[in-house]
Amino acid sequence: MDYKQTLAQFLASDKVSKDELLPLIVDSDGVRADIAMPCHKLAAKLKKSPVMVAEELRDCIKKAVPEWCADAQAVNGYLNVFLNREFYTRDVLTAILQRGDDFPAAPPNDKTVTIDYSSINIAKPFHIGHLLTTVIGGSLRRIFAFLGYNAVGINHLGDWGTQFGKLIVAVKKWGGGDTIEELSRLYVKFHEEAENDDTLNDEGRKWFKKIEEGDTGALALFRKFKEITLKEAEKVYKTLGVEFDSYAGESFYNDKMAPVVELLENKGLLTESDGAKVVDLKQYDMPPCLILKSDGASLYATRDLAAAIYRKNAYDFNQNLYVVAYQQNLHFRQVFKVLEMMGFDWAGGCKHVPFGMVSLEGGGSLSTRKGNVVLLKDVLAAAVEKAGRIIEEKNPDLEGRDAVAKSVGVGAVIFGAIFNSRIKDVSFSLDKALSFEGETGPYLQYTYARCRSVLSRGEVSGIGYKTEQGSIRGLASYQVSGGGDVCFDPKLADELTDDQTFEVIRLLGGFDGAVAEAAKTYEPSVISRYLMDLAQSFNRFYIDHRVINDDKKMQSARLLLTRCVANVLKNGLKLVLLDAPKKM
Ligand code: ARG
Repeated sequence: MDYKQTLAQFLASDKVSKDELLPLIVDSDGVRADIAMPCHKLAAKLKKSPVMVAEELRDCIKKAVPEWCADAQAVNGYLNVFLNREFYTRDVLTAILQRGDDFPAAPPNDKTVTIDYSSINIAKPFHIGHLLTTVIGGSLRRIFAFLGYNAVGINHLGDWGTQFGKLIVAVKKWGGGDTIEELSRLYVKFHEEAENDDTLNDEGRKWFKKIEEGDTGALALFRKFKEITLKEAEKVYKTLGVEFDSYAGESFYNDKMAPVVELLENKGLLTESDGAKVVDLKQYDMPPCLILKSDGASLYATRDLAAAIYRKNAYDFNQNLYVVAYQQNLHFRQVFKVLEMMGFDWAGGCKHVPFGMVSLEGGGSLSTRKGNVVLLKDVLAAAVEKAGRIIEEKNPDLEGRDAVAKSVGVGAVIFGAIFNSRIKDVSFSLDKALSFEGETGPYLQYTYARCRSVLSRGEVSGIGYKTEQGSIRGLASYQVSGGGDVCFDPKLADELTDDQTFEVIRLLGGFDGAVAEAAKTYEPSVISRYLMDLAQSFNRFYIDHRVINDDKKMQSARLLLTRCVANVLKNGLKLVLLDAPKKM
């Protein structure tokens, strides 16, 4: 049950609709209220004072005494509502346990969202600069799929461009190029040498032209570079748990741009500028969008126009997202505007999802051209190794230590990247990311493992459990750490009403809202922030309350609460790409 919905529904009348009320209702701090509504907007609409509106609404609630509500107050033009704690607890815990250990995705909703992320450049090193797009996009794909969308992950590979020509020159001159390390080294060496010798760049361009013209030898090398880079990238994706439905990159559109250019031409949108063909965007306060160079070669934007049209035809998306650094703001504004000018009414469904820069603390900003690239796989390997050492110190007998070290190390890096809102620049420190205290991935994973450990120590008594047929069978007592066949005994709710415990429950009730908000704002960080609040709240509860104790009813109630926290943490972590090991 979503209590904001419930309140909106309750307050709706012939003067204000539920849909008008809903956005006005906010979560409160649990002290002044559980949920609240500032009445200023409503007051303006009804031509009354906010104080009066708040009082009227309060009276309306108090008269009806709905079962979900414990109290309503009017304070300075705010309507403050307190939930009936037992009612809320029964509702929330029952619903969570019903979802089982692995929350099923919502039923399909007939909407498709295509998400362009990672989109690495072939034959260039996969450096830490691609971390954010990869994990934000990978997480968004999981979030949308969880909400019932058809979520399509697209890796728009940068597999076309002069870098291939440059690499061929480097291979021909200096040999090698059979492994990703050699390719990276050659790429760096080429740019170092080219700084003093511009003819190298000319040669690179010549070789790229050969690829474009379909020269067999050049094409064979191009394909080899692509294969080597992709194989290596796929290892990183596997480590991160990031998946794609399509690897259609820039070269995929080689034969799909002519019709786009023709359409632009027919619509009279192309103008000449220094021999190049462009779409003029002066009236929109933007520089022209370059479509064809004077030698007839297509550009990045041309490929993106073809790609957007292709995606519409292939997937019939409702939303078409691009998780790309904010440096490309202008590019996407131009591309979307041109699509609109071409008359595609779906252009409005295209959205740029920008994010900030990552730097490694002490690592400086990250450049591919110079020698100081920080490879993503090196960062991940360092984190896993460090996590392994920490586990060795804290828990040397841990079963499956290597797997846990991997989950923790990789999780620390992902969480460090995804915890802040997208647009902020991230300065990354491995030490901080791997700390078990503070707002880190390992802290969340540790909280989950703590829940599991508590659950393995106690039995729930006097309550039913769900059989395979879905019926509830009574049982004297059973272990709550088992499978997903647990349900909440409504009689236990009155054990969970103190402030600290109820704060945990209120947060549990906010899970679906957080996921919906993350999808709406394209911000996985909404979920990571939510999980952090939940874990911190649970740990405060845990310190002040004995879960395992002599009062069997209380123990049962607290164990079931712990089970709910564990399940929400685990499933929430999955949405932001983190594993939840049972032991740490
Ligand atoms: N390969 C590009 C880069 O690394 C990102 C491509 C983003 N996607 C797109 N459709 N333009 O900067």
